[in-house]
Amino acid sequence: MIDKNNRIIVANWKMNLNLAETRDLSAKMVEKFKDFNEGTVVVCPNHISLSETKNILKDSPIKLGSQHVYWESKGAYTGEISTEMLLEAGCEYVIIGHSERRKYVLENYEMVNKMVKAVINTEKLIPIVCIGENWDERKTDKVDFVLVDQLQQALGGVNIVGNQQVIIAYEPIWAIGSGNAMEPSEAEYSHKIIKLALNGMFGMPTVNRSFRIIYGGSINSSIAKDFTNIDYLDGLLVGGASLDAEEFYKVAKIIL
Ligand code: PGA
Repeated sequence: MIDKNNRIIVANWKMNLNLAETRDLSAKMVEKFKDFNEGTVVVCPNHISLSETKNILKDSPIKLGSQHVYWESKGAYTGEISTEMLLEAGCEYVIIGHSERRKYVLENYEMVNKMVKAVINTEKLIPIVCIGENWDERKTDKVDFVLVDQLQQALGGVNIVGNQQVIIAYEPIWAIGSGNAMEPSEAEYSHKIIKLALNGMFGMPTVNRSFRIIYGGSINSSIAKDFTNIDYLDGLLVGGASLDAEEFYKVAKIIL
């Protein structure tokens, strides 16, 4: 377990809110978190809402994140968005390789690797790299192998320098949006595997300085407490429960 003030909670609003709804929820979050100074709170709206959300968040401790980025910096890449554009919109974080993107738009870890490198090269944006096993992999005892393999593919050739931070979001695919979070003890086991794999790849001093490991998958305020005392957990990535300001605030208060 690391210092609580280094913990982070990330709201992933996915494609759930239009611009008016994003404005409304952002304003409610600003109000809720106005005197909050624990850890780091991040919200990730859709791309067209980023700039407006940034304006709404401007005097608040809440940080802005994107749900996706492309690896090239400029050019003929219809529909994509660059790191430079995200920085321009005020983003400090970016989710990379969410399992929904891997499932619905066929992102793979080769692409994730390019995105991680592009983000790290900015020396400003912090990547939130998603990994996690599916149900079949869990049932057939492949979790350790899958997590190590995904980390190696996502982070192979990545060079961590200076103050660069990287967040690994462990999201067992079967737990996302299912209403059934993972047992905290099982999450702790996976976080330990991730930590050991990272130590092997980057060395313990770099991992302790630069990496945080967070859990995502059906977290809400009634179960968040069970995740407060597990080892190697530096925060949470919250989907459904982040669409309600009061509920998200309750989770943040518990975990941060
Ligand atoms: P959930 O989503 O909290 O609704 O399960 C988490 C995520 O996909 O990031």
